[in-house]
Amino acid sequence: PATDPFPVDPLRFVRHVGLLVDLEVLLQDRLAPALEAVAGHPVDPAVRVSPHADFQSGAPLALARELGRPPREIAAEVAAKADLAGLAEIAVSGPGFLNLTVSGSALDEALRATAADGRLGVPRTTVPRRVVIDYSGPNVAKEMHVGHLRSTIIGDALARMLEWLGDDVVRVNHLGDWGTPFGMLVEHLIDRGGDADHSISDLTAFYQAARVKFDNDDDFRRRARLRVVALQSGDPVSRELWRELVSRSERYFLDVYARLGVTLGPDDFAGESRYQDDLDGIVAELGEKGLLTESDGALCVFPAGFTGRDGVALPLIVRKADGGYGYAATDLAAIRHRVRALGGQRLLYVVGAPQRTHFEMVFAVARAAGWLPDVVTAEHIGFGSILGADGRMLRTRAGDTVKLAGLLDEAAGRASAPAIGIGAIKYADLSGDRRGDYVFDLDRMLAITGNTGPYLQMAHARVRSIFRRAGRPAGTITVTEPAERDLALVLLGFEPAVRAAAGSAEPHRLAVHLHDVAAAFSAFYERCPVLRAPTEEVRRSRLGLADLTARTLHTGLFLLGIEAPEEI
Ligand code: ARG
Repeated sequence: PATDPFPVDPLRFVRHVGLLVDLEVLLQDRLAPALEAVAGHPVDPAVRVSPHADFQSGAPLALARELGRPPREIAAEVAAKADLAGLAEIAVSGPGFLNLTVSGSALDEALRATAADGRLGVPRTTVPRRVVIDYSGPNVAKEMHVGHLRSTIIGDALARMLEWLGDDVVRVNHLGDWGTPFGMLVEHLIDRGGDADHSISDLTAFYQAARVKFDNDDDFRRRARLRVVALQSGDPVSRELWRELVSRSERYFLDVYARLGVTLGPDDFAGESRYQDDLDGIVAELGEKGLLTESDGALCVFPAGFTGRDGVALPLIVRKADGGYGYAATDLAAIRHRVRALGGQRLLYVVGAPQRTHFEMVFAVARAAGWLPDVVTAEHIGFGSILGADGRMLRTRAGDTVKLAGLLDEAAGRASAPAIGIGAIKYADLSGDRRGDYVFDLDRMLAITGNTGPYLQMAHARVRSIFRRAGRPAGTITVTEPAERDLALVLLGFEPAVRAAAGSAEPHRLAVHLHDVAAAFSAFYERCPVLRAPTEEVRRSRLGLADLTARTLHTGLFLLGIEAPEEI
């Protein structure tokens, strides 16, 4: 599991429980009674961060429509009734908005509490949930491709965030380690002398060579088919060779994870093969529950509400006509295992968008079969594709799928340090809405300006360097200048940003926030001298803001799985 860069001081944490640093929530709470008094029923205060004031509420506009009265009049009435003493100034603006400007003392208090907290004002959840995150899931004897890269990066960021917020996270690497191709792979391994460590240098080449023989050599094809049968019936020699192939691949994947700084370890592998003994039972149970339909010799479930473009019901095939089990049957067994044996309460599947229907059908069938109780949520965390410069799926010039290791080599080689190159790739993936596609453009990813990983790493290192020159620690924060205020307000948005990113499984919400922090800091640094501040007190206060900025960037990048070196 991920280690916490700022471990919780338990006593300090206890002291800060109940101390609200979330200004948005504080303002909502104070505004709510005034709105209720005017409306005659509870109203959502809808307080949001705003470019026009610190915060803004549009609640009077909706209320005015409801009551059939002028919005500005309603806004004025709410403003007069609201008790915001010591917290904020309130003013009616535009067609009937309420602008809220936080008082200096409330800002200082919230900042000081945040700075004093080892967790930057982000409490651990008091009701931890067991979250099972399925991510990475590459296939044995195949190269990881860019789709696996996205799953690995996004899944790891989610695992880190949820774990840090206090959930009990179980990482599952659903390795593709079973199925008919293993007949041909094991047979090819035998032809090569039977030693996976010595005879395989390039897994993709190995796979392709087996494939070519399978397609062109009748005798090999016959042997491969017999080998599948032997493997599935537990023949020890076949099993041993298969095991070698799997562990050879696992070592390769672990290598990639280490290079990526991903928290998946050897104990997280739980491949498709783990569920093979459960599959007969899965099908039997579906049969008993009356959910199975035979179609062209295959056993299928037709979950309600799934139809193809032609309006015909879509089948989830649980047993093929030849008696073999496929991907769907395994996922049904896996979901049952995750609920029953792992105690999962929230199940996340970080897998590309093309598999969306597959997962929705698996969830529907699992619910119908009683394996996925209502209290357990299951979510497909889908994502788009990585495109080449031509706007099409990323391919090499020869038209092959691009190999992950090569991309990492190139990024690490072109940056000044591997942490920067790898961080650039990860940040580029995490900083956009995951549902969208993006173009793999190393020049843009590695740029030190714009919304990039290197920009944030640089911003962090720059703030740290101030401390090396300052030679004295930060002091109590007191905000006075407008640029200090702007930075302070952004810094206080860390907690909502982390919570939003984890709640909706959207790492970009945190990434965007970190970029805002870095931008607010550079605006502040331009206008407010730190080391040459007018007085010692101001200097120490500004060092306090700088320190909080550095810790926010460091923790935020850590949660995204990106290193933040002290010096660059
Ligand atoms: N091995 C699969 C693939 O490469 C991904 C596995 C995703 N997880 C799952 N439970 N099906 O497409």
